[in-house]
Amino acid sequence: MPSELITNIAELTTMDDEDRQLHDAAVVVEDGLIAWIGAAAEAPDADRRTDVAGRAALPGWVDSHSHLVFAGDRSAEFEARMSGAPYQAGGIQTTVTATRAASDDELRANLRRHISEAQHQGTTWLETKTGYGLDVDSELRSARIAEAELDDVTFLGAHLVPQGADADEYTRLVAGPMLDAVAPHVNWIDVFCERGAFDAEQSAHVLEAGLRHGLGLRVHGNQLGEGPGVALAVEYSAASVDHCNYLSAEDIRLLAESRSASDGGASAGTVATLLPACDLSTRQPFGPARELLDAGVTVALAANCNPGSSYTTSMPFVVATAVLQMRMTIREALWAATRGGAKALRRDRGTADSPAIGSLQPGARADIQVLDAPSAAHLAYRPGVPLTWDVWRGGHRIVGPAPVLR
Ligand code: NIG
Repeated sequence: MPSELITNIAELTTMDDEDRQLHDAAVVVEDGLIAWIGAAAEAPDADRRTDVAGRAALPGWVDSHSHLVFAGDRSAEFEARMSGAPYQAGGIQTTVTATRAASDDELRANLRRHISEAQHQGTTWLETKTGYGLDVDSELRSARIAEAELDDVTFLGAHLVPQGADADEYTRLVAGPMLDAVAPHVNWIDVFCERGAFDAEQSAHVLEAGLRHGLGLRVHGNQLGEGPGVALAVEYSAASVDHCNYLSAEDIRLLAESRSASDGGASAGTVATLLPACDLSTRQPFGPARELLDAGVTVALAANCNPGSSYTTSMPFVVATAVLQMRMTIREALWAATRGGAKALRRDRGTADSPAIGSLQPGARADIQVLDAPSAAHLAYRPGVPLTWDVWRGGHRIVGPAPVLR
């Protein structure tokens, strides 16, 4: 792959270990990785040159929570919610019925459409989950379709107890034959630990089974009310607990301590992943971002794209909401949507087979977004305005400037 110099960057937000923000900067990309970062005036030569003419650049978004293997539409449920009906976990069943009825091609096309939509808004890494199949064959099919498109795939057989099933019996199916079938196609396991879904004991059973299969652990917790999700996630050293709308002081303490318990605080512990687009769409209170950050918890932001509770792929919308409504600073929100997401997926430190994501520093994957704005602050300063200009993913330019229409 020819090397590429991206230069004339007005503001380069690196999210690197020193959290550097450079001005009048340049980046050199080689073999899909960041090879050099520094002042534009000192940049080395490369095979190709892209002049971004005074725009801002930052890492591509790392969207660590989505449910993209689905079919069907739940806009009527959304409309009812906007007229005062509450969000209920039971709505998941509607999507299960539509997903089971869809062909592989339909599911694949739908998944690809949403990935492309996300990429056009600066997302360069996406996790997605199964969870709209809820029987062995349908969950396996979802996992296979997802693994062909994405590197982080989560088994969420424990999303809802399907209509007519017994909760304990279904939990045993998830943790037994369903997991045996799906495990070779996924790298994470998740459980919706919530009233109306799975209780603490059933959730622990699912996580234990995932551990035995060598999967990383994630938990949906404390979305619709206080409950055991966060404590369970911390007890099992899950990489992330997602939603976190209703947290007790004890939950926040446990999350903060999970961080100091791991590597003397150097690593992230259990990340609290907040999903503000979902909170708006379900009219739940926002996750307590300020309290979490002030307590020293590692916070990530994700879009949670799914047809029920959060039908958006837009990380710029998530970042703007986090700043405007959740009292996160611009830097905190940008970090949470890039490096924070990478920590929630345990990918912020590179390995021999998998370079780091979520930051721009030598050796990291060249996942870069350029904004049609002089600084990343414009993402919240100009909410709703499509600012994505260029996107490079693994060194390939996947989105370029739109042609001028006459
Ligand atoms: O993360 N909370 C559980 N799962 C999804 C919603 C799924 C749905 O309503 O279809 C979520 O919000």
